[in-house]
Amino acid sequence: MELSPRLAAIAGLVPPGARVADIGTDHALLPLNLVKTGRSPRVIATDLNENPYRAACRNVLAADAGGRVEVRKGDGLEAVAPGEVDVIVIAGMGGNAITGILERSRGVLAGATRLVLQPMSDAAALRLWLVQNGWRLADEELVKEDGRFYVIMAAEPGEERSRDPFLLEIGPVLVDKCGPVLVEYLEKVKGDYQRVLGGLARSRSPEAMEKAIEITSRLTRLREVINRCRQRTE
Ligand SMILES: C[S@@+](CC[C@H](N)C(=O)[O-])C[C@H]1O[C@@H](n2cnc3c(N)ncnc32)[C@H](O)[C@@H]1O
Repeated sequence: MELSPRLAAIAGLVPPGARVADIGTDHALLPLNLVKTGRSPRVIATDLNENPYRAACRNVLAADAGGRVEVRKGDGLEAVAPGEVDVIVIAGMGGNAITGILERSRGVLAGATRLVLQPMSDAAALRLWLVQNGWRLADEELVKEDGRFYVIMAAEPGEERSRDPFLLEIGPVLVDKCGPVLVEYLEKVKGDYQRVLGGLARSRSPEAMEKAIEITSRLTRLREVINRCRQRTE
């Protein structure tokens, strides 16, 4: 059972031997891969909704993996008890939904040694929440699948060395790593900034001017990172 590049990158951020909870598992593809490859001895796969919960149960039964993947129905981490898992994966949900799940379950979080998170939106706000709540960004991956970029972050308990809003928006580890997809991703972000700047140029309000100054400074830093990564890969 081959994982998509996105799910494979998520699996790659799970440390070997870790007991895992996959929150919002849907089809349970990730849990089944983690136990079949021997990366994880045991995974709790949860989903809030009936249809995905049933799909996960069916797939686990069909793979004869019931002893190692336990499917539970529930909202966020409510279906997991403190100390039951080492790693919590939450993938394929909006960043604000992920933050809400983490916010509501501090007891379960206290026992976790790593969070592996793949937000579909609002990655910057999620990074900010992590660093303000006792987590540091230990690793990050950037994947392009079917023309869409996916950011995956691994957070561990500790103090984040940087609270720089620009780095928290782009991803401090992604910027350090200058991986193969980063320049393409940053060119897209640059285009987004330039479009916003074009819109702001039509307004003369002090707020718009302040925002334009902020975006211009981010564009400068973005160009610096793009140049540095290009030089590294040449
Ligand atoms: C787009 S799917 C992602 C599936 C899988 N994690 C992946 O990345 O491919 C999102 C899943 O999260 C589930 N979900 C949404 N909110 C949830 C919550 N609060 N608690 C548990 N599951 C939730 C949905 O039912 C759905 O199956």
